[in-house]
Amino acid sequence: MAGTVGAQAFESVEVGQSSRSANPANIDALLDQMTLDEKIGQLVQRMGGRSKALNSRLGPDELEKVRRGEVGSYLHVAGAEPLRELQRVAVEESRLGIPLLFSMDVVHGYRTIFPVPLAMAASWDPDTAVRHARIAATEASAAGLHWTFAPMVDIARDPRWGRIVEGAGEDAFLGSRMAVAQVRGFQGSDLAAADTIIAGAKHFGAYGAAEGGRDYAGAEVGKRTMQEVYLAPFRAAAEADTASYMTAFNAVDGVPTTGNAALLRTMLRDEWGWEGLLLSDWRAVEELMAHGVAGSRSDAARLALEASVDMDMVADVYAADLKAAIDADPALVPLLDQAVRRILETKRTLGLFDDPYKYHDAARESRVILSDDHRAAARTAAQRSIVLLKNEGDVLPLAKDAQHIALIGALADDALSQLGSWRARGMAEDVVTLRAALEAAHPNVTFAPGADSRSDDASGIPAAIAAAQSSDLIVLALGEDFDWSGEARSRSSLELPGRQRELFEALAATGKPLVVVLMGGRPLAIPEIAEKADAVLQTWLLGIEAGPAIVATLFGENNPGGKLPASFPRTTGQVPVNYDFLPSGRPADPDLTKDTARYMDQPITPLYAFGHGLSYTDFAYGEPMLDRSEIAADGGALTISVDVTNSGARGGDEVVQLYMRDPVANVSRPVKQLRGFRRVALAPGETKRVSFTLTADQFALWGPSGGWVIEPGEIELMIGSASDDIRGRTSFTITGRGAGRIAPAAIETRTLVMETGQ
Ligand code: NOJ
Repeated sequence: MAGTVGAQAFESVEVGQSSRSANPANIDALLDQMTLDEKIGQLVQRMGGRSKALNSRLGPDELEKVRRGEVGSYLHVAGAEPLRELQRVAVEESRLGIPLLFSMDVVHGYRTIFPVPLAMAASWDPDTAVRHARIAATEASAAGLHWTFAPMVDIARDPRWGRIVEGAGEDAFLGSRMAVAQVRGFQGSDLAAADTIIAGAKHFGAYGAAEGGRDYAGAEVGKRTMQEVYLAPFRAAAEADTASYMTAFNAVDGVPTTGNAALLRTMLRDEWGWEGLLLSDWRAVEELMAHGVAGSRSDAARLALEASVDMDMVADVYAADLKAAIDADPALVPLLDQAVRRILETKRTLGLFDDPYKYHDAARESRVILSDDHRAAARTAAQRSIVLLKNEGDVLPLAKDAQHIALIGALADDALSQLGSWRARGMAEDVVTLRAALEAAHPNVTFAPGADSRSDDASGIPAAIAAAQSSDLIVLALGEDFDWSGEARSRSSLELPGRQRELFEALAATGKPLVVVLMGGRPLAIPEIAEKADAVLQTWLLGIEAGPAIVATLFGENNPGGKLPASFPRTTGQVPVNYDFLPSGRPADPDLTKDTARYMDQPITPLYAFGHGLSYTDFAYGEPMLDRSEIAADGGALTISVDVTNSGARGGDEVVQLYMRDPVANVSRPVKQLRGFRRVALAPGETKRVSFTLTADQFALWGPSGGWVIEPGEIELMIGSASDDIRGRTSFTITGRGAGRIAPAAIETRTLVMETGQ
């Protein structure tokens, strides 16, 4: 690449050899030329702006830092042209001309905003997640970006934690599939292509297990749960070659992850063999002091470097204080070199040493961003993410004619909220709200806000009641606006915020048919709605095509096929209420006269279980069929198949779910664990055979002394429509003992769908 000093530095050592080739000698030669300050500079990620004011800090002082080689990467920057200029300064005006890495939180879309990740997980459709990530990468890369801080793969079993919205919910297997899908979508098959970006799976550790659901709080997680649940999606992302991870803010068992050498250097690097770029979260290196494990900034720098954290996000601890740590302990020098090498290797993988400007094509930027195709894909994703929680008396779908609809609820008219908490370059003006879409689709709609999710203002409720009374039917949008979920948005209560409950009760009392459209980024405790509403659609925060997707579902043009990726509790005090709990010596029993593992004042079940989701049609399941009754622990495999028939009158999608249980093992095992799923589309009367092929290592457990152990004995398999709607059971035997390689939940289950011709 003519005119780039970095590229010249490569060519001077390996004449005629492409700098993109995987020859570490090139990186080593560049390393040899670097001063200590230039090496440390590569480890520094600075903010080019704030998430809501991108590029705003890129003034003359900042450019001077780039010229001096003091920066390796920027976050919160965007735009093909401004970033070309910034890259030009790095490549043409710094001594070694090493290109910069540009990054941003592109979590569920860049400008074309898709449903929030929890919603996309509700599609139970990894292909939807691949498409979203591919489109997000296409747009982000056209805007000059190389790197996204996504997917967020933290397992969340406590919906009080506001960041549950950013991940795939409570289950490690579903979470792993969504993690892999997004890594593949962002990274594509060639990271050097101009339309792919590196994924940044986050937040490595057990961030989702924050105590009490309070963001940033420490986690107390047993070794087995850590390996089988919290780390599984990270392992799946490693198997999919995620090029980067971000460390979690919090501590596990008292050790802050950003300084946890046992977890990061020993396990992630040495045992998993992962060699990508490890980034700290925002100021997490500095926060090692607040955690109380570092007494000074140079201590914090040493701990993070020893843990193998390559890049320091915005804290400038590496920038200002790593040198002192190295002066005090020269043993850190090789660790520094490793970190620099990994960062340079990442830049090379992106092709930046060949052509540092390949991501700065303004014509492509204006062509691809928010294209019609992207918008159409966002609508499909939104439709596939909707979950029908209840449909008493088949009140849904609505007939297109005759009814006068009262559309109530401020959320129905709230464009900004549909963009969710990470909106990248998403704009409220791009959003089609439920109100706009319903008014466009139906001639008789009266809108009244009634109440919102934020204020204590109930003054709109009487007008909402009046609108309901003069209508045939109520569509009521309730839930949480975007700012109730996301980072630092934990809640102590999972009830409807504001005066919405009052609004709901008043409308339910009118006796009109009542359809609730639930919005928001977390499961809510809504027993009153479950009891009194005729129908409930969980619509999350669906992105720019939210309104059309919901309206198509209300009128039956879209038959909802989503399923819950996280259980809905009956009350806040019931959480965590995940489906894969341990049985206890006194398993929960509905009979209150028995002393069992339950609350006295609540049923033993969640309000809506993991995997729950209804349809406008019905599905009948045949008996599960196993191709064998025994497999060897050492390399055995088996296939379980089931025929699923659409027994109703409408086409629809069913998510066929496969669960396992190991009834007797060395350690107590969960009552159910998801091990396979497949979303299938079925025409009325149609039958398809769904087959899952499982290998022995998918039944392994984290053994009492560590390592993946496959034990001999019986395994039960269950197939059904939800974790609480099992339609068929069978079992088989594992013979002998074996060892697994990775977390079973991280292993993909091979799935096949066959037309049966009926
Ligand atoms: C802090 C968040 O925890 C993380 O998810 C995000 O990527 C960074 N800020 C950068 O915005």
